[in-house]
Amino acid sequence: MTKTDVIIIGAGASGLMCAIEAGKRGRKVLVLDHANKAGKKILMSGGGRCNFTNYSIEPDNFISHNPHFCISALNRYTQWDFLALIDRYQIPFHEREHGQLFCNDSAKDILNMLLTECHNAGVVIQLNTDITDIERIGDSFILASNQGRYSCASLVVATGGLSIPKMGATAFGYKIAEQFGIKVWPTRAGLVPFTLQPDDKDTFSALSGIAIPCVVSNARQRFRENMLFTHRGLSGPAILQLSSYWQSGEAVTIDLLPDTDLAQVLKTKRQQKVKNTLKTILDSYLPKRLIGCLCAEELLALSLQDCSDKYIALVAAQLHQWMIKPNGTEGYRTAEVTLGGVDCDAISSKTMASKAVPNLYFVGEVLDVTGWLGGYNFQWAWSSAWCAGQYV
Ligand code: FDA
Repeated sequence: MTKTDVIIIGAGASGLMCAIEAGKRGRKVLVLDHANKAGKKILMSGGGRCNFTNYSIEPDNFISHNPHFCISALNRYTQWDFLALIDRYQIPFHEREHGQLFCNDSAKDILNMLLTECHNAGVVIQLNTDITDIERIGDSFILASNQGRYSCASLVVATGGLSIPKMGATAFGYKIAEQFGIKVWPTRAGLVPFTLQPDDKDTFSALSGIAIPCVVSNARQRFRENMLFTHRGLSGPAILQLSSYWQSGEAVTIDLLPDTDLAQVLKTKRQQKVKNTLKTILDSYLPKRLIGCLCAEELLALSLQDCSDKYIALVAAQLHQWMIKPNGTEGYRTAEVTLGGVDCDAISSKTMASKAVPNLYFVGEVLDVTGWLGGYNFQWAWSSAWCAGQYV
């Protein structure tokens, strides 16, 4: 049996960060992962450039049944702390919209930095390890695996969420929580494209590839971003963001012209005796194909001069408050994150340790903390793991 101080299950963003911090404190750290490579999600993130944090990190950018839980960790290890690390490794990066920070070259820069830090801190990373059993015996955790048995004083669960099973995502972390009597909130896919009802799919799949700046909202949230029509449904940042706030069966409202008061524009043009049809006028605001799908042909054929206030209001409502009821989401196959997870009320927000099971820690996405699109999920991984790393 291999004996060590700390075992971390999961060599992803949070597992590696926790290992670095614990290793720096002189703890003997072993990271176990069933995958054949560490940090696979880091490598595929941000289109290969890893949106590793954001200039503006606020608790409101996170979703949890316990919205206060994330505050302490985010305040103790901030985006500026991670940027200081990036700076030390001279990793070139740039800012995109909404303060999102991406590598200039490759997400490999982030993974290599973490692996170098692990190496410097004496951390051992063992891949291809399937853990078959975990037991608590006395003050130790005993793990059985296809590579042998291990014992440790502190066990850290850093197994992430369920998104992209092809990349090695499993429900193992939730099962460990349940094994030790820790509540797990039901999980569902977040930051995920919507699929459409069959009729809508037939209509809108023809628009595949069209991107529109818009405001997408429901009763709980609104996001002003781009939306993308795909051959399966709706995607793009606006949709991904709202998907994390969406409940099955609910309609979403889309303002396709958030910078224009369409009713006012049409009334003004009517007053100016503009003689064009509604179609000609609307075509200068939105892609022709989209207008054709959203507005009735008879309405579009009307000359503006023949349009009553009622018709104008009808067209404006259709384009400012287009309501569509998604059929569902694309699920974990394409989701960036998993909502729900290990109940934060059962975990210390200072140490990330279970309140009931001494020396059992949970970090990163396995916890019921889900960030918005924009580098927030990695910042949560860094912050929560850094905190645990000070105590394991
Ligand atoms: P993570 O998933 O990184 O790591 C978990 C590790 O546990 C994996 O190595 C896995 O193999 C291992 N594991 C799982 N089950 C196991 C088992 N049974 N036994 C052993 N090991 C096991 N976020 C962001 O902020 N900016 C971005 O640009 C992106 N982009 C992005 C793109 C795509 C396509 C996805 C899917 C996700 C993102 N994200 C993101 C989200 C981000 O990747 C995610 O929130 C973090 O990687 C979470 O870090 P964790 O360490 O918690 O889990």
